[in-house]
Amino acid sequence: MDLNDAICGRRSTRDFTAQAVDDQKIRRLIDAAVHAPSASNGQPWTFTVVRDQGLLNRVSDAAKVHMLATLPAGPPSDRQRMSLSDPDFQIFYHAPVLILISGITERPWVVEDCALAAENLMLAAYADGLGTCWIGYAQGYLNTAKGKDALGLPATWNPRLRRAFIEGADEDSRRRMGRGLTTEELERVLRRYPGDIGADMTRRLRS
Ligand SMILES: Cc1cc2nc3c(=O)[nH]c(=O)nc-3n(C[C@H](O)[C@H](O)[C@H](O)COP(=O)(O)O)c2cc1C
Repeated sequence: MDLNDAICGRRSTRDFTAQAVDDQKIRRLIDAAVHAPSASNGQPWTFTVVRDQGLLNRVSDAAKVHMLATLPAGPPSDRQRMSLSDPDFQIFYHAPVLILISGITERPWVVEDCALAAENLMLAAYADGLGTCWIGYAQGYLNTAKGKDALGLPATWNPRLRRAFIEGADEDSRRRMGRGLTTEELERVLRRYPGDIGADMTRRLRS
């Protein structure tokens, strides 16, 4: 798949089929992830693959309780509070596999390193016909001692584990909603310094 098609075509998937994702595909995704750049080439990541739906249900329940207890009070969180209170809401959307990306060192930029790996993984999944969604709802709980224990993460990682990044993957459930930036939208997200190259940047970005 053309890189630009993958970048523009990938969308978060929240409606998964139960079809299993085979090991070879998972390996390809992780191979794409580890090609990401990392600060000082530290590659401070690990990938935990979880297919056990019973375990994912338990992690989802515990993560919802954790999120509800830690969400800031007030209207901005009302929508999140409503979905997290719904007993039918499973934070992983019943995806057949979870890939947990953990940063395992205290190095600076470990979060950025893992996020770059996650984006590579999501784009590779899209190109391979798989849907993904980053599940931030799981991060708080999985950074607690109980959460790490639930996934059997080695105890030696515990003191150093900083962040968890989550992906679910599934076949044939990509949403194909095009999203291209109009020039106006591009202007909104493009930050320029006074005296910079102005509109010419738009042209350069597109060439
Ligand atoms: C840090 C981060 C955390 C996210 N957490 C969740 C989540 O817990 N649940 C969810 O459904 N989507 C989550 N998402 C997906 C975003 O909602 C989604 O990327 C955004 O709405 C843009 O839509 P798109 O991915 O289809 O382009 C998360 C994305 C990021 C980058």
